[in-house]
Amino acid sequence: MENHSRIRPNVNILILSPFLTGIRYCVTSFQTGFCWSRSRGARVAQTAVSNPVRDDLSKGVAMAKIFFFLKTLLARTFWRQTIVFLKNYMSSNVMAIHRLRHLGKESHIAPSVKFAHPEHITIGDRSDIGSQTHIYAGRESRITIGSNTLIGPFVFITSDSFSKSKFELTESHSGHQADIAIGNNVRIGAHSVILPGVHVGDNVAIGAGSVVTRDIPGGKIAAGNPAKVIKDL
Ligand SMILES: CC(C)(COP(=O)(O)OP(=O)(O)OC[C@H]1O[C@@H](n2cnc3c(N)ncnc32)[C@H](O)[C@@H]1OP(=O)(O)O)[C@@H](O)C(=O)NCCC(=O)NCCS
Repeated sequence: MENHSRIRPNVNILILSPFLTGIRYCVTSFQTGFCWSRSRGARVAQTAVSNPVRDDLSKGVAMAKIFFFLKTLLARTFWRQTIVFLKNYMSSNVMAIHRLRHLGKESHIAPSVKFAHPEHITIGDRSDIGSQTHIYAGRESRITIGSNTLIGPFVFITSDSFSKSKFELTESHSGHQADIAIGNNVRIGAHSVILPGVHVGDNVAIGAGSVVTRDIPGGKIAAGNPAKVIKDL
């Protein structure tokens, strides 16, 4: 990996993985000392089938795994990723929610949702933003989400094509910025992508995994890549 490359921390690998791995190690090392068998039709547990060589070996492996687990907890990577994760979580979720241009009544935003330029994002009443969804407004473009609209998990909505160029720091790398408007009572299926400039009318359903590149008129179901109207709602 190049020096400047970074792995963005994710709650699953950061927080859960070391603990799940630790639990798995414990379960595995206990399992090696026990075996189950069937005898004369009845199920019986045979405990501690004695084999000193194998027992010593499995104890050694278990110890090595526990040592590795503790070493991982003490490693700089663990703490650096944890700190970056918490920093990202605070700035792109918790603090961003307070900085939204408008957040309607009774709307719910999952804790893993991320916003960029939240001051350019409006969310209506009773709308729901699903887990792992990213809503990225641009520096000069806005995203408006209506009321009673449900956005599934892992949706990506961006009104800005790519972040700034490494060569022209004031310019985008490529693509364009344009406002996005998503109407009332819209459903956006999981893993969909909504690209800059798209207007989605009221009472629309967008199929799972769609890439919406053009406007979708109200009262329709659209799906696919690029998303096309497949029928009326
Ligand atoms: C779009 C959707 C609402 C349509 O459901 P439906 O009305 O029952 O539609 P059908 O299953 O009858 O499919 C109609 C056609 O669209 C196609 N289609 C359906 N969903 C599609 C999708 N996501 N992408 C591409 N094509 C899709 C079907 O293959 C079918 O094509 P055909 O007529 O050539 O056979 C549904 O398929 C979907 O994607 N729901 C999203 C679920 C989701 O993400 N929920 C989030 C939970 S929080």
